[in-house]
Amino acid sequence: MTPADQLQPRDAGGANAPERSLVLGIESSCDETAASVVDRGTRVLSNVIASQHDLHAEYRGVVPEIASRAHAERILPVVEAALRDAGVSARDMSAIAIGNRPGLIGSLLVGVAAGKALAWSLNIPLVGVDHVQAHMYAGYLTRPSDAPSTGPSIDHAFPALGLVVSGGHTALYRLDSPTSVQRLGSTRDDAVGEAYDKIAALLDLPFPGGPIVDQLAQQGDHTRFDLPVSRLERHSLDFSFSGLKTSVLYTLRGVPSHNGRGGTAPMDRTDQNIRNLCAAFQHACSRAIILKLERAIEQHPDCATLLAGGGVTANSLLRSRLGELCARSGLRLVIPAMEFCLDNGAMIAGLGQHTLAQRNWASDPLSISASASSTTIT
Ligand code: KG4
Ligand code: ZN
Repeated sequence: MTPADQLQPRDAGGANAPERSLVLGIESSCDETAASVVDRGTRVLSNVIASQHDLHAEYRGVVPEIASRAHAERILPVVEAALRDAGVSARDMSAIAIGNRPGLIGSLLVGVAAGKALAWSLNIPLVGVDHVQAHMYAGYLTRPSDAPSTGPSIDHAFPALGLVVSGGHTALYRLDSPTSVQRLGSTRDDAVGEAYDKIAALLDLPFPGGPIVDQLAQQGDHTRFDLPVSRLERHSLDFSFSGLKTSVLYTLRGVPSHNGRGGTAPMDRTDQNIRNLCAAFQHACSRAIILKLERAIEQHPDCATLLAGGGVTANSLLRSRLGELCARSGLRLVIPAMEFCLDNGAMIAGLGQHTLAQRNWASDPLSISASASSTTIT
């Protein structure tokens, strides 16, 4: 037994369990330092996110060492702000949930260390939460001012299909419960959010590229450029975005002729051409995702719910395409409100509360570690 194992946070389940309601969730897997207080697994009382975009902008991508240093500086003020915004104190917490996998290891370690210290000093249960699973839970989060949810409760959504589209992940899942998750397919190269960020870099647009490319795409005509939609093998549920990315590069720079034949001129970078190219790219991304979902629905006809999550579910076109797909396929769509699409602590707290309630509030040991990969998705 390690010294950490001897310092067990208190489980305190049993008769006390129904009184438990407030969970503090901590997220630090990539470049957002985030904390949130969530009541009974869904009602978000505070949602504080300290973004590091300014620190990584000049590199046009996340620099792991810079990210972990910034987390270390920000984690305590962010936790304090989350408690303050919720109008509660740390002593009111029933448990601490930490996003401990997958992600950048140096970044994860900061949140995990903070979560352990809090759980131990407050003598309350601690739970480690999978970031990808948490994205698929985010559609159940509500604000206190929201009308009561009319959708299915989390307990009645399964079996479900899951879609995670973000800067680090693009994958399809089958879920038999919020934490029983099987991967059906994933990207073979870039994540879709990463492709958005790289296209933005090619167009000299700011990092992260998703929001601005989305905005420009809404003013463009997607039919002006013919970009490829990756299909892969007939039954494949994998994704690929590198061909699409290269095609955007060739459109922008032109292709030299070979033996005096073929070749194209570089694109004239007018504002309207840029908008049209963004629209064509956005159209191809959405089409590729919907195509794989159509296959997944066909292959898993017993799934009646789609749990979608991750930063790219903030995308205007994808949101409407997902709505249309679910309407014509008879699936219930559970998709996060805009503020819960990107990385946040609320999804960690929500899924953490659900996990603890399922196991009578038994704590994870203080020896729980951070892991760069997902250890619980098969
Ligand atoms: O979920 P998230 O915050 O972090 C990861 O877990 O990766 O997702 C961030 C990603 C970035 O790549 C960003 O460009 C993308 O989400 N994103 C968008 C939009 N808003 C953010 N992509 C397309 N359209 C958007 N509106
Ligand atoms: Zn994420």
